[in-house]
Amino acid sequence: MSEVLICGGAGYIGSHMAQWLAEHGHSVTVLDNLSTGHRGAIRWGDLIEADLLDPAALESAFHGRSFDAVMHFCAKSLVGESVAEPYAYYANNVTGTLNLLEAMRRHEVNKLVFSSTAAVFGNPVSDVIDEEHPKAPINPYGASKLMAERFLADAAHAYGLRSVALRYFNAAGALPEHGIGEAHACETHLIPNVLRAALGQGPSLKIFGNDYDTADGTCLRDYVHVQDLAQAHALALGFMDRHEGAHTFNLGNGQGFSVHDVIATAASVSGVAIPYEVAPRRAGDPARLVASSDKARELLGWTPRWTELAPIIESAWRWHRDQPRWSPHHIHADASIQAA
Ligand SMILES: NC(=O)c1ccc[n+]([C@@H]2O[C@H](COP(=O)([O-])OP(=O)(O)OC[C@H]3O[C@@H](n4cnc5c(N)ncnc54)[C@H](O)[C@@H]3O)[C@@H](O)[C@H]2O)c1
Repeated sequence: MSEVLICGGAGYIGSHMAQWLAEHGHSVTVLDNLSTGHRGAIRWGDLIEADLLDPAALESAFHGRSFDAVMHFCAKSLVGESVAEPYAYYANNVTGTLNLLEAMRRHEVNKLVFSSTAAVFGNPVSDVIDEEHPKAPINPYGASKLMAERFLADAAHAYGLRSVALRYFNAAGALPEHGIGEAHACETHLIPNVLRAALGQGPSLKIFGNDYDTADGTCLRDYVHVQDLAQAHALALGFMDRHEGAHTFNLGNGQGFSVHDVIATAASVSGVAIPYEVAPRRAGDPARLVASSDKARELLGWTPRWTELAPIIESAWRWHRDQPRWSPHHIHADASIQAA
């Protein structure tokens, strides 16, 4: 049993992490500024309402408490916004991470699991992306995450910090039976936007490009269920007990599903025909973004359980269906296919 501080535990992936840790007998504390997270998503453990950009608040969060490890999910993570407001992204994702690492060092907390992203790779140069793929982010969001990964390598060397950076591809799905799911006020991810279209909420759905070199002409992405991500984080805790240093792993389910696959599967799961329009391709959307997670399977012992698209979408559908109606102005006008 460990005492784990979940920074960003009021958010989508962090709340699923809290559920997993509590169910497996660990003790959880959430630190969050509630900028994109929700108080109602904190169902396991106490909330410390604090901002990573406030070193004094971090100091008091650690003071008098004893954590075995920290999981760091906090970030601004909208790719387009990061291009428009790079300073805000570097402040939150880079300076915020540095403040957290410094607080951990002062309080002798020596293990960190960090949420990284497929966006550190930039445009893929191979069909399947493993950890050795070149890192060439094409937006400030991806660059901010790559900088944070570099901090972890430097901190291992200088201070003996043990860390695991997990680069998620497209997180998806929900745990409706536990009352948690994807609740981004500004939603750019494909599955929730398709499901909102099925519910008649929000603007019409757009597919950006149907002339890619893929079987049905639409882009392929790798969807990994949040519960499988939580399992990988828990395995990372054990890994850090056995291994010094800074480690990185890609997390995806290794299969590419097309935008058409997602829309057709959502229609079949929900029983609703989902209208869409085809729009021109967008700059910066590669045809295919699929992870190799062989390293995580081999070294962490990770075995994703949600390997099929239909159950992933079905879990998200049950959650979205039961939410209060979202107002359209909260919904980003595109059904994005980018990895965040
Ligand atoms: N959702 C995805 O598909 C995906 C893919 C790859 C990587 N990631 C990464 O995973 C992490 C979690 O993603 P998510 O989808 O759950 O996002 P989210 O926005 O739902 O959760 C982030 C949480 O961090 C909190 N937060 C942000 N900045 C903070 C700060 N300065 N101080 C304190 N709290 C702060 C927010 O209030 C929120 O509760 C992020 O780091 C994101 O970059 C997500």
